[in-house]
Amino acid sequence: MTRITVQVDGSSYTDDVEPRTLLVHYLREQLGKTGTVVGCDTGNCGVCTVHLDGRSVKSCSLFAVQADGHEVTTIEGLATNGQLHPMQQAFHENHALQCGYCTPGMIMQSLDLLADNPNPTEEEIRLGLEGNLCRCTGYQNIVRAVQAAAAGGAQ
Ligand code: FES
Ligand code: FES
Repeated sequence: MTRITVQVDGSSYTDDVEPRTLLVHYLREQLGKTGTVVGCDTGNCGVCTVHLDGRSVKSCSLFAVQADGHEVTTIEGLATNGQLHPMQQAFHENHALQCGYCTPGMIMQSLDLLADNPNPTEEEIRLGLEGNLCRCTGYQNIVRAVQAAAAGGAQ
């Protein structure tokens, strides 16, 4: 076991983890952050996307020990005082989800995209989200949601 201290969604956690524990499993199973989900476990689908020190990472592709001393933000850390984050609100208003399984990762990746490029074209949005798969929506409304969030200055 290795002891790690990680800041997650604004709170500090110190835990013993096995060196092979994936960050996504640490978040879900030890911290109860089940808003971050697992799809492929192989870095392909993007549903496990979180922010590590403000940049998006696929949390199935990192070990929990690699987050030691760092700051993680999950989908559960976005809303403040019961108010959805503007990106969450934009997904809601633009019907950018059906089953919702891809949504946490899509939202975290969309925020990373806007952090780099606050005013992306449709093509740039599609490229920026190419590592996040959605089996339901056909992506059109996801792109619209990101455009709406960008227009509203969401970051
Ligand atoms: S579960 Fe991490 S990329 Fe699919
Ligand atoms: S809404 Fe079902 S996978 Fe995207």
